Amino acid sequence: MLSKYVYLLLGLFASMHLLYINDDMYDIKFNFTNKWLNIIKNIYFNLNRNSNSETSMHISEKVFTPNELKKYTNLKDGLYISILGHVFDVTKGAKHYQPGAPYHIFTGCDASASFITGNFEELTDDISSLPTDSIVLLNKWLKFYHENYIYKGKLNGRYYDEDGVPKEEFHNVLKIVSHAKVEQLQEEYIKKMLPPCNIEWDSTFGTVVWCSERSGGIERDWIGVPRMLFESPNSKQYRCACVKLDSKQYKEMKGMLKEYSQCPETSIRCFVKAENLSS
Ligand code: HEM
Repeated sequence: MLSKYVYLLLGLFASMHLLYINDDMYDIKFNFTNKWLNIIKNIYFNLNRNSNSETSMHISEKVFTPNELKKYTNLKDGLYISILGHVFDVTKGAKHYQPGAPYHIFTGCDASASFITGNFEELTDDISSLPTDSIVLLNKWLKFYHENYIYKGKLNGRYYDEDGVPKEEFHNVLKIVSHAKVEQLQEEYIKKMLPPCNIEWDSTFGTVVWCSERSGGIERDWIGVPRMLFESPNSKQYRCACVKLDSKQYKEMKGMLKEYSQCPETSIRCFVKAENLSS
């Protein structure tokens, strides 16, 4: 993983991170063909959207008690579910949630953990033992319900207090999701700026690495030259990266890049000697 070292290098990410961990709960529409400005604009957009909705929530929105929510398990009163303390009317998905349907068990309660574990016998909203990936997945479920069903309010319980104010548990979810998102952005950024090389094996020359406008699946208008990209300055782990020699990223990351021995500095193709192969 390159991310540790990149944390130090990319100051921009650090500030993004600070902004991002405050509140953001939804996916950032991130497209690497756009520039940083778009990224930052999106982050602000999401932060504003969330902080506005969280503020107005305290004034107007309904906060269910667990007992109240229990009523909504049938077609007469409605079918409601809660996920991470957000309550949704899922009556329009009756085929999934009505009595006798496969996911009826989720109605009238918050069974956040069971959305991940698939344990429908012991429903619980306690996700504290779930790994990061699962929390990210759960956040996707939350997004799914916001997009597909009617949002009704908050549930007073593990994630929100009786006034609908987010509790520590909810902030923890936000932090985990945000950290994961920043890591993903970093990895995508590195992949975009230092795309992987093409690699092939030739019976005469052995392993060959080379760069093209599409190597690593990254389409671009430059080719670059192969370099060994190390995880950190002292690391032995590396991968082949295509480097644009006149780019800012190259200058910033020079300490982690090394030329392939016996390969001309500007060659887009290098034969890899055995000692140059990544371990
Ligand atoms: C952790 C385990 C699982 C959970 C929490 C889960 C949850 C759900 C939920 C909540 C829905 C309804 C989505 C909606 O409101 O539109 C759904 C739909 C569905 N699930 Fe699952 N599911 C799980 C595992 C599975 C498995 C293992 C299968 C298949 C073998 C499956 C097949 C389906 C199908 C086919 C639908 C869509 C049905 C339709 O649209 O008619 N699910 N699932």
